[in-house]
Amino acid sequence: MGKQSVSRRNVLGLALGLPLAACSGSTSGAEGGSAGNGGTGGVAGTGAGGNAGTAGAGASGGVGGGTAGSGAAGTGGFGAAGSGGIGGQGCEGPDACAVTQDNIEGPFYKSGAPMSPGAIANLRSGVTGDLLQVVGVVYAADCTTPLSGAVVDVWQADSDGVYDNTGFTLRARMRTEACGRYRFDTILPGNYDTRPRHIHYKVSHPDGLGLTTQLYFAGEEFNDTDPYVRESLIKPLDRVTGQEGAVWVCRFDIVLA
Ligand SMILES: [Fe+2]
Repeated sequence: MGKQSVSRRNVLGLALGLPLAACSGSTSGAEGGSAGNGGTGGVAGTGAGGNAGTAGAGASGGVGGGTAGSGAAGTGGFGAAGSGGIGGQGCEGPDACAVTQDNIEGPFYKSGAPMSPGAIANLRSGVTGDLLQVVGVVYAADCTTPLSGAVVDVWQADSDGVYDNTGFTLRARMRTEACGRYRFDTILPGNYDTRPRHIHYKVSHPDGLGLTTQLYFAGEEFNDTDPYVRESLIKPLDRVTGQEGAVWVCRFDIVLA
């Protein structure tokens, strides 16, 4: 399997990860960093593949190859399950290289979705549902080089499977940070008709071809019968408990052609 086959280590690393700081982008070197206090920073400490911190504390990751740890996210940066950052999740390359498959745009795309000021977007305003946090890294075609400044444009249905086609609810754009990482806090979309739950993506960067695709979730009804689902686009959901309570967490890395 290609890059989309994210190891359990990485999923937990990001899910429990913590604030993030400068990204070294290295896949080698020291194990991840030490736990911090509270995880309150917006962008504090994570390098590639850093260790997550201990429960209840934020952590700053180290550089390269660290193993996933445990601990609820703090309130800043790129953790998950809290209002935290993208921590724990590293920049390490995939197990094998494969460009992310494209997928249909569908009829509900709207250009001009609100642009997040950073790499983290919040789509939860005005909606209710099961909390979901999606994190990932955008890579160049070599599956190794993280693409900073890639625009990630996402849109999805609400928990009843309905799109907002008049406003921009559950629609947002964000730009990947130095390590290519992005994150958005949202709710689990409902399925509609015979379509399984999914989130639409448009990703663009000057160093790659634009990509339109969809993220699907493992174990969903209709995954086997929907004609548009691609196995490589189905990602596992992990259940994580943090400061916000129980949150579904999903990692979706993207490799542009
Ligand atoms: Fe859709």
